[in-house]
Amino acid sequence: MAFIVKKTINKKDYYYLNENKRVDGKVKTKTIAYLGKTKKKAEEKAKGIISNMTEHKKPEIRKEDLKEFPQQIREKILPMNSEEKYNKILEIASRKSLFYPAAEIYPASPAGFWDFGPIGQSIRRKIIDFWRHELVQKENILEVHGSQILPASVFEGSGHLKSFSDPIVQCMKCKKFERADKLISEVLKKEIPESLPTEKLDKLIQNNNIKCAKCGGKLGKVSKFNMMVETMVGREGEFKTFLRPEACQSIFLNFLRMCKTMRLKIPQGIAQIGGAFRNEISPRQSITRSIEFSQMEAEIFFDSEKINDITNFSDVAKYKIRLLRLGKETIEEFSAEDLVKKKIVPGKLIAYYMARTQQVWNEMGISYDKLRFREVDKDERAFYSLATFDFEVETCLGWLEIIANNYRTDYDLKGHMEHSRTNLECLTDDGKKIIPHIWEISAGVDRTMFAILDNCLKEGKEGLYFSLNPKIASFNCAILPLVNNGEILDLSKDIEKELKNSWFDVFFDPSGSIGRRYARNDEIGTPFCITIDGESVKNKDVTIRDRDTTRQIRVKISELKKILRQLINGEIEFEKAGK
Ligand code: GLY
Repeated sequence: MAFIVKKTINKKDYYYLNENKRVDGKVKTKTIAYLGKTKKKAEEKAKGIISNMTEHKKPEIRKEDLKEFPQQIREKILPMNSEEKYNKILEIASRKSLFYPAAEIYPASPAGFWDFGPIGQSIRRKIIDFWRHELVQKENILEVHGSQILPASVFEGSGHLKSFSDPIVQCMKCKKFERADKLISEVLKKEIPESLPTEKLDKLIQNNNIKCAKCGGKLGKVSKFNMMVETMVGREGEFKTFLRPEACQSIFLNFLRMCKTMRLKIPQGIAQIGGAFRNEISPRQSITRSIEFSQMEAEIFFDSEKINDITNFSDVAKYKIRLLRLGKETIEEFSAEDLVKKKIVPGKLIAYYMARTQQVWNEMGISYDKLRFREVDKDERAFYSLATFDFEVETCLGWLEIIANNYRTDYDLKGHMEHSRTNLECLTDDGKKIIPHIWEISAGVDRTMFAILDNCLKEGKEGLYFSLNPKIASFNCAILPLVNNGEILDLSKDIEKELKNSWFDVFFDPSGSIGRRYARNDEIGTPFCITIDGESVKNKDVTIRDRDTTRQIRVKISELKKILRQLINGEIEFEKAGK
């Protein structure tokens, strides 16, 4: 709880914002910010800081949360409630600099912007690499990188200027704006589609006597707020431009060029990783709902009359896809071929990419029972989509949308064709000129990272740790010389150099007790710790410790690279990799 205090020094008043925190059971007071010399100014400044702190707050681990298990078994999911789990993820994220609020040394900065430190950025990069390998390379998709700032005319063509808005409502008393759909959803404890007409949202507010969540004040009328972030380009700001609200618009603008220069042949996709920006009026839940975020997406261009002509379909035909259908309360499993036969999806191409998407996120480290597609109702779909199957992961924040899968039809290319007066038709194999249809797989990078961290948070003997897929973990291994000098240190450095020279991400961790070193490497998800001891110098071998089981094997240094590579790729069982 933050509060204002006045200090008088040499007969002059100074105002500060203080906060009480419980540390090891004792309440301690800490000054958070200087507020100026007058009470009025101090109150104004404090308001801004306090509303930001709700998002920026760095929760603390409370001792009572770190309950011991009766038997200290690893791999046990934490017995915590969702809020505690969320706070723990944020606490580790902040302490280990995985992610943290941007411009945090300026406490009054707006919420909704996040930075990623070395470990977090490395995990993000590996998520992107994994996606690129599985969905871009294996599916023969062309990757581009488009500009994040685009002229307003693009968004006339795409329809965003007209239709990309959120319903908002203002409190008549404290003047705070809130997302109307989110506020109503929270009060009624059910999902209210953001695309519901404003009059219907007004009715829901009236009929349920919904008031401002902050001060209990009466709410005004719901209005639409365009979520695009406008930018000024040119000396006089003469070019009206926007930060793109979805990365895919760059892909659509690249389509013609890819046909002409890269021999794009439908069905084929174009992919991109990059930033997108949405002016969320109440950003919340850390990196899962921020104003600037990163998307990795693929837009698959195809002939709508040949939606069932897809060569690799047999690879996934029997693969089970988890789906929550409209109006159903339980998740059902359908094979890809059943999705098509039962006409749940518009065709094989869509079932194929749904299967591949689920496989990739599952392999990345999210367990099968925590994944699902959700069939999205017309009211809730984006304005450009004929069919939507959100891909969601169950996290401490509930079912979190990770990927928007939209059947965008020819909506975008037609819009850009009309507004740019450029022909965006392409030739099919049989010589037809068509405007292709588009299946979109638009994934949030930051949300994927959050969902993976959430899914991998475990309790072990040494404390909390992220049981990350070795391909996603920031480091492939840590090197721990048993003593920090002499021949052991020299050998450890040689091994570090050798591994770094050949592909591995290595963390060299020479000091502290061995237990403490295991704990800190486990915590950030490093899958393997390599210990070098006196025996290593004599016998030219080392110990590899497995993060998840804490078991150890001894392997020859000459075999280390090969064995590590096999372990990371999941090609051998740990126990069988050494003595
Ligand atoms: N391109 C779809 C989305 O950003 O949600």
